Amino acid sequence: MSVTPSDVKATLSFSDNSPSIDFPIYKGTIGPDVVDIRALYNKTGKFTYDPGFMSTASCNSSITYIDGDKGELLYRGYPIEQLAVKCDFLETCYLLLNGELPNATQRTDFTSLVTNHTMVHEQMGSFFQGFRRDAHPMAVLVGTVGALSAFYHDSLDITDSHHRDVSAIRLIAKLPTLVAMTHKYTLGQPFVYPRNDLSYTANFMRMMFAVPAEEYKVNDVMVRALDRIFILHADHEQNASTSTVRLSGSSGANPFACIAAGIACLWGPAHGGANEAALNMLYGIQKQGGVEKIGEFIKDVKEKDSGVKLMGFGHRVYKNYDPRAKLMRETCHEVLNELCLHDDPLFKLAMAQEKISLEDDYFVKRKLYPNVDFYSGIVQRALGIPVSLFTGIFSLARTVGWIAQWNEMISDPEQKIGRPRQLFIGAQRRDVPSIDQRK
Ligand code: CMC
Repeated sequence: MSVTPSDVKATLSFSDNSPSIDFPIYKGTIGPDVVDIRALYNKTGKFTYDPGFMSTASCNSSITYIDGDKGELLYRGYPIEQLAVKCDFLETCYLLLNGELPNATQRTDFTSLVTNHTMVHEQMGSFFQGFRRDAHPMAVLVGTVGALSAFYHDSLDITDSHHRDVSAIRLIAKLPTLVAMTHKYTLGQPFVYPRNDLSYTANFMRMMFAVPAEEYKVNDVMVRALDRIFILHADHEQNASTSTVRLSGSSGANPFACIAAGIACLWGPAHGGANEAALNMLYGIQKQGGVEKIGEFIKDVKEKDSGVKLMGFGHRVYKNYDPRAKLMRETCHEVLNELCLHDDPLFKLAMAQEKISLEDDYFVKRKLYPNVDFYSGIVQRALGIPVSLFTGIFSLARTVGWIAQWNEMISDPEQKIGRPRQLFIGAQRRDVPSIDQRK
């Protein structure tokens, strides 16, 4: 969508008397204004310098909005707290993709559309055989999701909006199947085919946990908890993996390849891998002695050179409690109650850890609060999901956000290939010495 400049302009002046320059300022519907510096290089021969994108808006978007100071997250204007209790994941997907919540007919049609794409090409099964059984699920997912582009040639024309829609549905529908196949492959159990009479999330749980030898009974509380995890992870504006998807897509790469790139980025412990790292951290503290050892652990975290971080804490945008963490904490209570695990030592440890950290000056001063990953691992573990698959679950849920953002980018008439510049600090031009002259 093109944006219109406001009446106010930003003026850049230089201390060396070169002429000052005006730049347009755009107002969003909410959130900070942005200064459009696209003409800076043409007018001055200078670039801006902003590693980590601390102050740079890389695009305009109307999908998701975060107010980090308030701790607010909106999908298409709707607060996450309302979506989490009033909608299911597929309604949320529809909202993210189309901008509005579905009415009853649209919901039925969309559910049926997704349901009819849940199977993967039979040859994908053989593709799995190429991986070691002990491969990390994220390695398998990067490979298999990227491989979808080799199976679905009929929806790869990114200039055709119908192709884009079909690819979007295929990705949303097939990710649960692939994540469950990844789990089954690790276990050495047969793959479980999707069942279209179940909801999206119930079907996923069945593909994960059913075995041919017995009937699988779906537990509604657990399905609802996992569905909520999916809703909370569905989108999060221009985070690292979403920006990766947009950057990959800006070259015209196909959506399956772009989502595989997003999965690769999500894998890192500073991003989606934090849920796995947070649970492993809790296990580590528990092994050392549990609640009494939190103080020692926090001491290590505060030691600048220790390299130890409180995983599941802190966020680039939230400088308040992550609203997803609040909902996840609630879900954690519900699931543990359902499973009669109220005394789960890991949950108790997490709550004690949270309390101590929220009162500690180090965390207070830096505005470090629990993020979504702090409690999601405990919920997933209670649901029977292995720790190494946590980030795979995150990928499944985030696929809709990635694809909605990718589609928004492709449809933007101002879209250009992403090509950041650099401040070069290496060697200037020099001649290649012969081998005997090299030090
Ligand atoms: N534990 C201890 N100290 C921390 C933490 C933490 N988890 N997070 C930030 N800090 C400190 C950091 O050392 C720095 O201190 P100082 O000012 O003394 O140098 C200060 O807080 C500011 O941190 P930063 O690293 O400049 O912040 P950032 O915006 O670059 O990093 C982050 C954000 C999420 C990568 C970081 O908070 C972190 O590594 N957290 C742990 C990993 C984690 O839970 N990630 C999940 C994020 S939410 C899910 C998702 O969206 O992927």
